[in-house]
Amino acid sequence: MATYLYDKLKEIKNIYPFHMPGHKRNRKFMDINALELDCTEIKGLDNLHDPKGVILKAQEEMAKYTRADKSFFLVNGGSSGMLSAVYACVNEGDTVIVASNCHASVYNALVLSRADAVYVVPEISEEGIICGIDPKSIEEALLKYKAKAVVITSVTYEGLVSDVKAIADITHNHGAILIADECHGAHFGYSKYFPKFAIECGADISVNSWHKSLPAFNQAAVLNIKGKRVDENRLKKAISFFNTTSPSYPIMASMDKSRQYLLDNGEYFNIYIRNLNILREELRENKYISLLDIKNKYSVHDRDIGKITLVIKGDTTGYDVADVLREKGIEAEFASVNEIILMTSVADDFSYYKILSDIIKNIDRGLKEKENNFKYLKYKIFYKPFLTPYKAFYSEKEYVCKNNAIGRICGENITAYPPDIPIVSLGEKIEDYHIENIETLKNYGADIMGIYDDKLCVVK
Ligand SMILES: Cc1ncc(COP(=O)(O)O)c(C=O)c1O
Repeated sequence: MATYLYDKLKEIKNIYPFHMPGHKRNRKFMDINALELDCTEIKGLDNLHDPKGVILKAQEEMAKYTRADKSFFLVNGGSSGMLSAVYACVNEGDTVIVASNCHASVYNALVLSRADAVYVVPEISEEGIICGIDPKSIEEALLKYKAKAVVITSVTYEGLVSDVKAIADITHNHGAILIADECHGAHFGYSKYFPKFAIECGADISVNSWHKSLPAFNQAAVLNIKGKRVDENRLKKAISFFNTTSPSYPIMASMDKSRQYLLDNGEYFNIYIRNLNILREELRENKYISLLDIKNKYSVHDRDIGKITLVIKGDTTGYDVADVLREKGIEAEFASVNEIILMTSVADDFSYYKILSDIIKNIDRGLKEKENNFKYLKYKIFYKPFLTPYKAFYSEKEYVCKNNAIGRICGENITAYPPDIPIVSLGEKIEDYHIENIETLKNYGADIMGIYDDKLCVVK
């Protein structure tokens, strides 16, 4: 009898991972035997959904690390944290201000919570990279709409951090709760060379996916709270909605162990940062595959030096660069037309940093200037969909040619990477400029989701 997934996993294990999970298959940092630790809620092992013993103690230690009042383990990833956070804070009919580069889980939470959404679009760099959220645009939205909560992604997939303190102050002045998707920033507490945690800057809730940037099993994540604005009891119930009643003990233990091991051995982060700085300096010499290092521009307040985001300015694409890396034994986290993202972690084998920079430098030397073909898309700074995501999701739908879709209500988020924010969002009235954006992105070679043979899903 054949095995497929298993065979593939065995096959790829010789390719070096510049991608998640952050344990990088390195036993030194993940000396955990999953079989030995896989168990259930027997006496002494506590209950994730009502912790009073070892899980509670591990969460309390975690909260010290995350600088939060309380931290809650999640075993269904940061996605379950974002779903829980939104679900806990808003009721049907409440308005939520949402940064439009939010993860799919936030868009899903809007459907489930039946809230009204107002989207705020982040700043986009001249190369088409999504950057920070301008606190002023949050303020404008809050002045126009009385909102119960604001949801931002800080840090972004590319490693960019917004001015969370300014956004938190504005949000709180308007009586709303700030939820920060910090899934890519679980490692920030280990060194002053990383940005501050969103919780330290005033966010009421933050979510960290431990598996993304730290040695922990996939799906390991933590939700953190600080202050008194969030109804903790309701939040705990929401976390229970979105996490299994058979939580994986190896996942939870991997966070517990990783936290202790890295705090007790602080030198590992010093070594990691030294190697990161060397890698970043090497990559900075490139002309056409350039290191993204934005700060104090495009509303970017800080950036994560652990995230190696390369912007393609020469006559190639991120896909081609990723293919060359793969041929040479390295797998990137993500590639698009104009971008390639490499995820590093403290558990890396640093000899691969030199291999990586040599390959990229070599490709760079063979490239020529290409005209920056990122044509700016048209966006409103903030907008409210015609129907709530909930109403739009549960309405009857049909599929129409995109040119006949103008004036209809969009029945599904239409997204593309780049820039990975919906071109049209669920419940929004489709306008001429949306169709223009779709055309621009198609010509640009972006992957568009939500278009079926040139047809769009609309509400009947
Ligand atoms: C910005 C952001 N938020 C949330 C998530 C979801 O986290 P998880 O994969 O841990 O469920 C992701 C996943 O890639 C993400 O990129």
